[in-house]
Amino acid sequence: MLEVRKLKKIFAKKSFNEKIALANIDLHLGSGEFVTVVGGNGSGKSTLFNCIAGVETPDEGRIVLDGRDITYLAEHQRAVYIGRVFQDPLKGTAYDMTIEENLSLAYSKGGRRGLSRAITKADIRKFQERLSTLNLDLEKRLKQKVGLLSGGQRQALTLLMATLVKPKLLLLDEHTAALDPSTAKLVMSLTAKVVNEENISTIMITHNLRDALEFGSRTVMLSSGRITMDIHERERQLVTTDKLFEQLEQ
Ligand SMILES: Nc1ncnc2c1ncn2[C@@H]1O[C@H](COP(=O)(O)OP(=O)(O)O)[C@@H](O)[C@H]1O
Ligand SMILES: [Mg+2]
Repeated sequence: MLEVRKLKKIFAKKSFNEKIALANIDLHLGSGEFVTVVGGNGSGKSTLFNCIAGVETPDEGRIVLDGRDITYLAEHQRAVYIGRVFQDPLKGTAYDMTIEENLSLAYSKGGRRGLSRAITKADIRKFQERLSTLNLDLEKRLKQKVGLLSGGQRQALTLLMATLVKPKLLLLDEHTAALDPSTAKLVMSLTAKVVNEENISTIMITHNLRDALEFGSRTVMLSSGRITMDIHERERQLVTTDKLFEQLEQ
């Protein structure tokens, strides 16, 4: 469903600061597959996501999503198919808008309904239903501004918004890293729940090696813009966090 072929991205090309962020990435993701990605700082993880999401244009290579070549498709056009959650809880939601308005924006993604159309009772019921699955009582706070929510609540809401209309692909970039440990755990379990229930094809970057091995069915390691490990189900069960850590250090 996602094919990344021979992807290359160089920053500050031909200058003193030239940086090969992605050297030659080949990554194929099956439909409904949940892959975790680990790698040291600067190994190219976010750049890979930026290329897939259309924030950066690769220098070489192809990105094909569900049979469609999206390598040069504008970011806003792919946003219809690609849900993304970042590390910073402030990034995914509009703080000065209510929970209901934020969800409504997410719901109208892809022009399925006009932006100007009023929020219907049916919409509100759907929002409440989805919010209640978070068990954070947010369904009772639809008219409150998102700026009032805690970081964890905002990340949970962002996750819900990114999946309200089922995306073809969900990209999670260290989305629990800025949260305290218990909130991170909560958001991670919500993530697993929504990804599994909706069978969403997902790539999750994490610096938490335990999460990397626990969630999804496959773990990829990036190092200096290259994939240095790609471990699948059975093989993955034999890998320990210590072993992963060792590989990361090299
Ligand atoms: N917009 C940019 N301009 C110049 N260099 C960049 C840019 N984005 C990333 N880089 C460089 O590319 C490399 C990979 O960065 P990144 O993908 O953010 O790594 P990671 O997410 O794995 O920490 C790093 O050396 C980083 O400094
Ligand atoms: Mg990063």
